[in-house]
Amino acid sequence: MSKKHGFGRGLTNYGDADFAVYLRRSFARSMGISRELLERPVVGIAMTPSGFNNCHRTMPELVEAVSRGVLAAGALPRPFPTISLGEVFLNPTSMMFRNLMAMDTEEMVRAQPMDAVVLIGGCDKTVPAQLMGAVSANLPAIQVVTGPMTTGRHRGERLGACTDCRRFWGKFRGGEIDADEIELVESRLSVTAGTCAVMGTASTMACISEVLGMSLPGTAAIPAVHAARLVAAEEAGKAAVALISRPVLPSQIVTEKSVENAFRVLMALGGSTNAIIHLTAIAGRAGVRVSMDRLNEISDETPVLVDLKPVGEGYMEDFYSAGGVGAVLRELRHLVHLDTIDVEGRTLEERLAEPLDWVDRFVIRAFNEPISSVGGLVALKGSLAPGGAIFKRAAATPELFEIEGRAVVFTSPEDLSQRIDDPDLDVQPNDILVLQNAGPHGAAIPEAGYLPIPKKLARQGVKDMVLISDARMSGTAFGTIVLHVTPEAAIGGPLAAVRNGDRIRLSVAEKRIDLLVEPGEIERRLADHVPPPVPKRGYAALYRRCVTQASEGCDFDFLMP
Ligand code: FES
Ligand code: MG
Repeated sequence: MSKKHGFGRGLTNYGDADFAVYLRRSFARSMGISRELLERPVVGIAMTPSGFNNCHRTMPELVEAVSRGVLAAGALPRPFPTISLGEVFLNPTSMMFRNLMAMDTEEMVRAQPMDAVVLIGGCDKTVPAQLMGAVSANLPAIQVVTGPMTTGRHRGERLGACTDCRRFWGKFRGGEIDADEIELVESRLSVTAGTCAVMGTASTMACISEVLGMSLPGTAAIPAVHAARLVAAEEAGKAAVALISRPVLPSQIVTEKSVENAFRVLMALGGSTNAIIHLTAIAGRAGVRVSMDRLNEISDETPVLVDLKPVGEGYMEDFYSAGGVGAVLRELRHLVHLDTIDVEGRTLEERLAEPLDWVDRFVIRAFNEPISSVGGLVALKGSLAPGGAIFKRAAATPELFEIEGRAVVFTSPEDLSQRIDDPDLDVQPNDILVLQNAGPHGAAIPEAGYLPIPKKLARQGVKDMVLISDARMSGTAFGTIVLHVTPEAAIGGPLAAVRNGDRIRLSVAEKRIDLLVEPGEIERRLADHVPPPVPKRGYAALYRRCVTQASEGCDFDFLMP
C-alpha cells in the first residue's frame, strides 16, 4: 500500500499490509472520511467526557480544538473514549478506579492504529491515570488538561471549590452560619466548567505534567473557560503531529531527573499530598523511584513560593496571571535539573531561556521571599509508620508540630461516621484522632484522612487536631494531618495495634510519628489481627489482590515494570 506521507504509519500501523489495511480503510470510509485523509498519519485523542464529570464539561470544544491542530499540521485526528473519573461522583472512592483508567488508556492507545496520542483529562485521578497509561504504552503522547474553574463571589469574597467548601462547612458545623447561608454558598462555590479552583490535586497534577515535560509549557494553569485554553489544545494537536516525525517518547521524558523536578515544584506549590502517590505511580511505570529520604532532602531545600489555597490565599486564576508553572520554575532554576527534555524535544534550560509573560506576581513569591523556607510536604517515619507517612506541613498548625497525645481510635470510615459526633465520645482538644482500615486494602484509600473535628469540640472553637490515618485527604483540605501510613492497618501495620488511650508522638522536626507502646505489646496485639475479607469477584477482587501500598503509588503490582 502506498503512503503519501513520509512520516507515521496511520491506519497501516498494524496487521498485514494488504487485506487488513484495505479492510480497515473501507470501514473507516463508513465514517465519511475521504481517502486522502485516511492516507495521513493518525493522532488519537483520548477524550473523557462524562455526565458524571463536571470538571470535563468543556471536553467537546477541547477535542475540536485538538482536532483542528492535528488537521492543520497534516494528520488525521481520531477521538476515542476512555472511562472518565469525576472525583465527587464515584463510590467508594475515585482512587479505586485510577488504575482501571490507566489500563483502559494504555490498552486503547496500544490497540488502536495511532502514531501519537493527545490525552485530555483534568479531574484529580484522570491526569495521573492518563500519564501512567502513556508511560506504559510508550507511544508519543501529549497531555492536555481541562483547566481550573474560575471563582464565584459571596458577600465580598471570592469562593472556589473546594477549600472554601470545607471552610464554610466547618463554620456551619460550628454553628457560625445557618442553613440558608450554607445553601447560598453551595450555589456559589463551583460556578464554571473546569477543575477545582485551588491548588488541589487536579491543579497540582496539571502542574506536575507540565514540569515533567508531558504538557506544553505555560498550559497547566490556563482557566478552563479562557480562550487561551482552546489555543493550547490546538497547539497540542500540532505538537502531537510534530512528534510523529521527530518522536520523543514518554520514557525519554519521564526520567529520574524530571521526576525530581516535579517533586521539587510540588514542594514549592504547597501542592496536594495525593500528588506524591500519583507521581510515585507515574514514575514507577518508568522504573523510576525517589526515596523518602530524597523527598525530604528536596522538601528541606525548596521553599513554598505559591500563595494559593489550601495553603495560602489565592486561586488558580491568580496563579495563571502570575505566570504559572513557568514563573515557579524560573525561581527554582538553580535547583532543578535543566537537561530534561519535553514533548517538544526541548531541554528545560531552553524553555526557561524564553521570556516569561505575566500580569501580576501576587501569588508567586521570589525565591528569597518565600511563604515558608521549607517545602510543603514531608515524609515521616517511626514506629507507627515503618514504611512511611506523609505530612503536609504547609497546611498544618505549627503549634501542633511537636506534640504527644492520647489516641482516640476509629476502626474504619464507617465507625468514624457513626461515632465522631456522639456527645458521649471521650475526646479532648489535645487528643490525637486515629482512623484505621482506610488504606488501599482496607477501603481503597479514600479521602477520609481529613477527619471532622468532633462536633462537641468544634462548638468549643477547636479548629484543628492531629489526625492520623492510612487514608488520603483531598488536595483542597488543610489541617495537622498524617496520611498514607504504611504499612496500612488492614495488612497488619502497627496502625492496627493502636488502642484508645495509647500515647502517640508527632515530631515534624525529627520527621517522626511514633506509637509509644512497648514493641512486644505491639507485636502481641498484631498477632490477633484479622485482615478484612477479600472481595470475591470483579474489579474489586483484582484491586485487592494487586494494589500496592501508598509508598509505591497504589499501582497494581502487575503493571509496574
Ligand atoms: Fe474534579 Fe475537584 S472535583 S478537580
Ligand atoms: Mg480533590
